[in-house]
Amino acid sequence: MVYYVRFLKPPKFHQEKKNAKLSRPQQKKSVFITALICITTDLGDDFLAEDVDLVATWAQRSPRETIDQISLKWQAGSRQLAISMGPYSIDHVSQHEAVFQIRTQTIPQDILGIDTTPLVISGCSAPFKWQSEPAEKLIQREFSMRSKSDPPLKIWEETGNSIARHIWDAALASILFLNQSISGTATAIPLLDQLLKPRGSALQAVELGAGCGIVGIALATMLDQCNVLLTDLPEVEKIVMRNIDEARLKPSSSVRYQNLDWDEPPPNLCSQPIDLILVSDCTYNADSLPTLVSVLDRLVRTSPDALILVALKRRHESEAIFFDLMKDAAFIAQQTTVPLPSQHDQSDTIELYCYRREHVDVS
Ligand SMILES: C[S@@+](CC[C@H](N)C(=O)[O-])C[C@H]1O[C@@H](n2cnc3c(N)ncnc32)[C@H](O)[C@@H]1O
Repeated sequence: MVYYVRFLKPPKFHQEKKNAKLSRPQQKKSVFITALICITTDLGDDFLAEDVDLVATWAQRSPRETIDQISLKWQAGSRQLAISMGPYSIDHVSQHEAVFQIRTQTIPQDILGIDTTPLVISGCSAPFKWQSEPAEKLIQREFSMRSKSDPPLKIWEETGNSIARHIWDAALASILFLNQSISGTATAIPLLDQLLKPRGSALQAVELGAGCGIVGIALATMLDQCNVLLTDLPEVEKIVMRNIDEARLKPSSSVRYQNLDWDEPPPNLCSQPIDLILVSDCTYNADSLPTLVSVLDRLVRTSPDALILVALKRRHESEAIFFDLMKDAAFIAQQTTVPLPSQHDQSDTIELYCYRREHVDVS
C-alpha cells in the first residue's frame, strides 16, 4: 500500500510575537510558514513506518515558481511532523499568493507506472495568503503518466477523514492498468485491451462511486474519443466538479458528473449505451453491495456488451459477498492483480476483475 502526505493543519503564514532580545533586522523578519503533516494510508489507519527525507517548497501560486525550500525528515514511528519555515519579512510574504508542496527528496515527480509509482505520494496545498485564513483543507496530487504525450493528472482531495473525498489505492491501480492497456501493452484482460483500442465511435464510460473522480478523469486524460460520466453521492459533487474543471483531457474526450445513489437509482438510470463501467474501491461496505450489484445489473441490461472493471483492496472477508452477487446476476470475470509499492521494499496487490454478462444461448 502506498502512503499519502496529508496536511493535518494546512499551511499558513504565522507571525512571531516581538522578542525584545532580537536585533532590529531580526525583528523585521518575523513571519514563518507553518503546517502539520502526516504520511498515512488511504484509510488513514496507519502511518509510514520508515524514515524518509522530504522537501518542503514554498512556491508562488502562478506562475509556479519556487520561493524557498527546506529539507525535512519523516521518522519511522512518527504520527505527525510539524513544519516551520522561515523567518521571512512581511514585505517578502505579502508579495505572493503561495502554495506549499511536500515531496520526497529522491523522487522529483510522481509517475504512475508498474515500476515507477512512488511509495510516498506527494501533495501541494491550496493557495494561501499573508493575513488571511490558512489554506483550504485540500491537497492536490499531481501524477505524470508514463506516456510523455499525456498531460499530468491533477486531482484535489480532502485532507480530513472523509471516505468519499479521497483517493484510494485501488484507484491508482485502475489507472496503472488502464494506462498499460491504452498504451498497447497487452494486459491479462484482452477484452479490455480490445475495447480501449482506437475505434470509429467514442467510448462511453460510467464510473460508480467515483469519489474525487480520479479514475474516470484519468481515462479521459489518456484516451482520445472517450466520454466519461462520473457518479457518486452528493457529498462529492463540489470536489469532483473542481477536478473536472481543472482536468486537461484529450481534446475529443469529455467528463461530466451526476449524482447517483445506488440505494435510490432513478427509474431512467441510463438512456445511452455504455461500453465500460468503472468501480474502484466500492466493495468495502457489505451492506451496500446488493444495491451496487443491482445498479450494475440494470446498467448492463441496456448495454449487454458492456465491460465492468472492478478494482479492490481486500479489507475484510464480508467483501466476498460481492463475488456471489455478481455470479448470481450472471456476470463472469477475468481476474488479475496490480502491484503497488509498500514500505520496507515490500509490494502490495490490488485485485482487478473485468466482468461481462454471460450470454445465455437460448437457441
Ligand atoms: C472508498 S471510496 C472510493 C472512491 C474512488 N472510487 C477511489 O477509488 O478513489 C468509495 C466511494 O463509494 C461511494 N459510495 C458509497 N456508497 C454509495 C452509494 N450508496 N451510492 C453511490 N456511491 C456510494 C462513496 O461516496 C465513495 O466515494
